[in-house]
Amino acid sequence: MPAANGKISVAPSILSADLWRLGEEVQKVQKAGADWLHIDVMDGHFVPNLSFGPSVVSSLKGKTDLPLDVHLMVEEPMLFVEPFANAGADLLTVHIEAKDEIPAVLEVIKKLGIKAGVSIKPNTDPGVLEPLLDGLDLILVMSVYPGFGGQIFLPESEGQIKRVRDLIVRSGRNIWLEVDGGINPQTAPLAVQAGADALVAGSAIFKAADPVLALKQIRQAAPDI
Ligand code: DX5
Ligand code: ZN
Repeated sequence: MPAANGKISVAPSILSADLWRLGEEVQKVQKAGADWLHIDVMDGHFVPNLSFGPSVVSSLKGKTDLPLDVHLMVEEPMLFVEPFANAGADLLTVHIEAKDEIPAVLEVIKKLGIKAGVSIKPNTDPGVLEPLLDGLDLILVMSVYPGFGGQIFLPESEGQIKRVRDLIVRSGRNIWLEVDGGINPQTAPLAVQAGADALVAGSAIFKAADPVLALKQIRQAAPDI
C-alpha cells in the first residue's frame, strides 16, 4: 500500500455504501481516485452492531485494484485474522481494547504476509501503542466511538492524532496514521493538520448526492503533506 504520490490517502468505507449496488459503488470511488477501500467488520460484541464477514472481502478481491483495508472491530481478533487474510485483506487492523493478546495477533498477521494495524478508541491513551510500534504498518485513530457510520468527529480527536504522530516521529518508523469517523470536507483539514496521512470517510462519500465530488472535496480539504 504505497503512499499515493505523497498525497493523503483516502479510504472510502463501504459501511455507508448502497449494498444493492456494491460493485458499482466501488468502481465509482476507484474512478474518483480513492486510494484504499475500507471494510468495517463488526461482531456485535466489541461494538453493538454487525457488518461484514470474510465473504465480502473475497467478493471484492480481484474485482477492484484498491488495497483492501480491513478494520476488525471484534472482541477476539485471533479467530478472524486468518479467514480475512485468506479472503484477500491487504491490511488488517485490530483494536488494542480487544480481549486477545494484541502483540500475538500482530505477529500472526505479519506471518500471513499482510500489513498490520492497531486502532485506538477515543478514550484510549495513545501511550499504550508505544511497545507495539516495531513491526506495525498503521495506527488507526478513531475519531468517533466505533460501531456506526454517520457520527460527528469528536473534537478531542485532534489531541489524540497529535500524540500518535509524536509517537511515530519519535520511533523513526514509517507508520501510516489513519483517522476514522466523521471525516468530511470540513473535518479532514483538522485531522491532517494534527498529523493524519490517511482518512476514512463513509457517509461523507457514499451518502453524498455526488460521491465523486465529495471524495475530491475531502482531498482538496486535505492538501498534500
Ligand atoms: C465506525 C467505522 C467507520 C465508519 C465511518 O465504527 O469504523 O469506518 O464507516 O463512517 P463515517 O465516515 O460516516 O463516520
Ligand atoms: Zn472503520
